[in-house]
Amino acid sequence: MKKRYTITAALPYANGPIHIGHLAGAYIPADIYSRYLRSMEKDIVFICGSDEHGAAIAIRAKKEGVSPQKIIDKYHLMIKNSFSDFGISFDNYSRTSSKIHHQTASLFFKELYDKNTFIEKETEQLYDSKENQFLADRYVEGECPKCHFKEAYGDQCEKCGSTLNPIDLINPKSKLSGNKPSLKKTKHWFLPLNNFEDFLKKWFLKEKKSDWKTNVFGQVKSWINEGLKPRAITRDIDWGIPVPLKDAIGKVLYVWFDAPIGYISSTIEWAEKEKVDWKPYWQDPNTELVHFIGKDNIVFHCIIFPSILKASEKYILPSNVPANEFLNLEGEKISTSKNWAIWLDDYMKDFPEMQDTLRYVLTANAPETKDNDFTWKDFQAKNNNELVAIFGNFINRVAVLTEKYYDGLTPQISAFNKEEENLLNEVYSYPEKIGKSLEKFEFRKAVNKMIDLARIGNKYLADKEPWKIIKTPNVEKVKTIMNISIQICGILALVCEPFLPNTSKKLKEQFNISNTNWNSINKDNPIISTKIKKSNLIFRKIENEEIDFQLEKLQKSKK
Ligand code: MF3
Ligand code: ZN
Repeated sequence: MKKRYTITAALPYANGPIHIGHLAGAYIPADIYSRYLRSMEKDIVFICGSDEHGAAIAIRAKKEGVSPQKIIDKYHLMIKNSFSDFGISFDNYSRTSSKIHHQTASLFFKELYDKNTFIEKETEQLYDSKENQFLADRYVEGECPKCHFKEAYGDQCEKCGSTLNPIDLINPKSKLSGNKPSLKKTKHWFLPLNNFEDFLKKWFLKEKKSDWKTNVFGQVKSWINEGLKPRAITRDIDWGIPVPLKDAIGKVLYVWFDAPIGYISSTIEWAEKEKVDWKPYWQDPNTELVHFIGKDNIVFHCIIFPSILKASEKYILPSNVPANEFLNLEGEKISTSKNWAIWLDDYMKDFPEMQDTLRYVLTANAPETKDNDFTWKDFQAKNNNELVAIFGNFINRVAVLTEKYYDGLTPQISAFNKEEENLLNEVYSYPEKIGKSLEKFEFRKAVNKMIDLARIGNKYLADKEPWKIIKTPNVEKVKTIMNISIQICGILALVCEPFLPNTSKKLKEQFNISNTNWNSINKDNPIISTKIKKSNLIFRKIENEEIDFQLEKLQKSKK
């Protein structure tokens, strides 16, 4: 039986385009992991979609003077295109406004409601009497009661990461009118997280979570130990999935209740297209469920959604939630409102054909264990000094020399000496080494090992200097050098696939490699091509002017 994996990446809000922080936080690691597992021939489904409900979208629509539907249609398409531009290989990219999702989320709510999972409570909520509207979540801003950041949202403080309740904000202000809100009574349904404390303690703290990333484990542990309170899962707003109860007219499901269920609806949508059964991907205890997210989503994926899944008594729980920290840009926090970001559609215009370079830099510099900084200078350095000078240079030298000496045909070798055997043993150990790092979600380490392999190849050529030997009576030796070098190119073509899919495709073409199975790469089954095709350079140098232009553009567009 093939091992089964359900891999999800956080559903992005369809209220704006995607920037490099999103890519680095969730989508690139999720894609690398999925591509690796596919190449290991596992049974995987890689799921995502647009998150199209919630106050953030309703507010954006209001600001632009259009309907929420217009907003989500625009950004859903834009986001979907960006993912496809950067080779994010989702098996399905859905959206939470779809019919299948409305049905799935309503049914989920209804089933839990029928099991008496929720509590019904009347509470006082912030209300904007001028706009005649309750101020849920992002409809209100104020001072964070924990860190005293002045612009915390009603549901979350972006400064300290705390999850908040609008009525806890100090000096709350309506985002609609700017007025000070009043209090008004309203009825809602709550998920009593306090009832799930024992379950969470056992599942999360005791069972196995010590092998989760320390940043994730620490956050969740302190949440659980602080004690959990009931959380409202319905809202008084007019954009979302209607609460499927007779006495809930005008109320919708809280976006953080419906969105994670979007992973399930997207899987169902995929399964219908593929004509397979979706249930094993969510209900078979042998399936590994892995959620890739940014750190602001940890509590939802490690506490709230697991509690909901647990309450259903049908679904599996995540086996890991490898959340990343944040990526900053030139020393400052990425900010949509300040337009301090590198938007993917802009990048595509300025660096067409260079998606792999961005994937590489964002992986090598991923905010894996702490916040990290993206700088254009570092982007240039990593491209020029690593991709061009090491990886590209090695491939190019091998192709050019093989063409020159042997008309592009790989020289056949019957025996290697001890030193050569050792080198071959070493280079063939890389797929497994890289794989081990990927399985531990150590993407930086993995991509560095890929470059190390190219480094070994480069050094081998530099040490052996076949261009000198070819002029000596030792000319036969050049055959061995080129044969080994071509084998290293073959290994690189395969192991770079999760990180640099376009490059891998080009290399497989150039070196005539049809093999895509990670496990099949070994010394006794060498990846050896017959005829190497001529080809253009696989990476290009980035000039100082291009970087200066980007730095200037960033400063100029800052708000
Ligand atoms: N839209 C949320 C965000 O961008 C993420 C939702 S993830 C899901 O922060 F689990 F709810 F789908
Ligand atoms: Zn705070």
